[in-house]
Amino acid sequence: MSQLILGVESSCDETGVALVRADAAGVPRLLAHALHSQIDMHQAYGGVVPELASRDHIRRVVPLARQVVQEAGCALADVDLIAYTRGPGLAGALLVGAGFACALGVALQRPLLGVHHLEGHLLSPFLSADPPTFPFVALLVSGGHTQLMRVDGVGQYSLLGETVDDAAGEAFDKSAKLMGLPYPGGPHLSRLAESGRDDAFELPRPMLHADNLDFSFAGLKTAVRTHLVRLGWLDQPATLADPASAPVLADLAASTQAAIVDVLVRKSLAALKQTGLTRLVVAGGVGANRRLRAQLDAAAQRRRLRVHYPEMHLCTDNGAMIALAAAMRLQAGLAQPQPAAAFDVKPRWPLAAI
Ligand code: KG4
Ligand code: ZN
Repeated sequence: MSQLILGVESSCDETGVALVRADAAGVPRLLAHALHSQIDMHQAYGGVVPELASRDHIRRVVPLARQVVQEAGCALADVDLIAYTRGPGLAGALLVGAGFACALGVALQRPLLGVHHLEGHLLSPFLSADPPTFPFVALLVSGGHTQLMRVDGVGQYSLLGETVDDAAGEAFDKSAKLMGLPYPGGPHLSRLAESGRDDAFELPRPMLHADNLDFSFAGLKTAVRTHLVRLGWLDQPATLADPASAPVLADLAASTQAAIVDVLVRKSLAALKQTGLTRLVVAGGVGANRRLRAQLDAAAQRRRLRVHYPEMHLCTDNGAMIALAAAMRLQAGLAQPQPAAAFDVKPRWPLAAI
């Protein structure tokens, strides 16, 4: 029997709701998804303000649920199961999605399933036109996490390496902020980098030659800061409107992006070599980075490896990946839907522990 799953994501600064249908064989298909990004609201503060995030999720989640149901041409009463992001993430923001899921579950008398946000990212390429097959190495690169995992099947995740300090997304965001670029810095820095030279500034490739699969990005941010101090741009950021500084800023953006991407690519290849696997899945917001994709694709072609990505619009946070992860866990017999009577969230929740 097929199942209609409503997925709700609210772990950070995006409210996402989606409907996924899992057919009798468990194969998931995305029927509709809707997203509201809070980026404009947080931009004034240079980062996510948790309390504002929670309040905005409250405003958005019901209209978004109505929208996906209408787009999919069904009724809320057709929903068989409500999946929500249980963690990790901002406690208040998670509680909004979980509370909404529980209330809807009570009203419709349908069960709930709490989903791990990173499992959602990790499985999101299964909704793409070129889905992977198990086993594979996953490079999870989001705003808060940078991890290499060995994935042998749904729920079979072993950690190969992770960042010891900042995440790759944080390295993008913090460097961009120092350079005076708007929040979130990743996409802005990468756009600016397109017109810059990768080798204009010398920047460290932290832990590139370490004998493990861990990452460290905090030193990179410090190096970017040092260059900005030398340029006299730390307290008074250069403006892109100034024709003299714009190319220099683009060079610094390109050099920063190159340093981050180099490390991600080299460590991913090392993880494939170490595990003997030939498939890599890239997931999380930084997976939208074009240079990362181009370099991984080029390396894969040389070494006869396959790289799988989520569709571009499903790289950052969304409800589709939450509904999908619920469908795949159910199909694998790993999850037991819970009666909609109580809920909890897990702001800190290691993926390897689920
Ligand atoms: O997965 P995600 O949407 O949220 C978290 O779970 O953290 O990832 C957000 C991160 C941010 O750090 C953002 O700057 C980064 O992904 N990001 C990018 C790009 N698009 C989003 N970083 C580099 N290049 C991009 N094109
Ligand atoms: Zn995420």
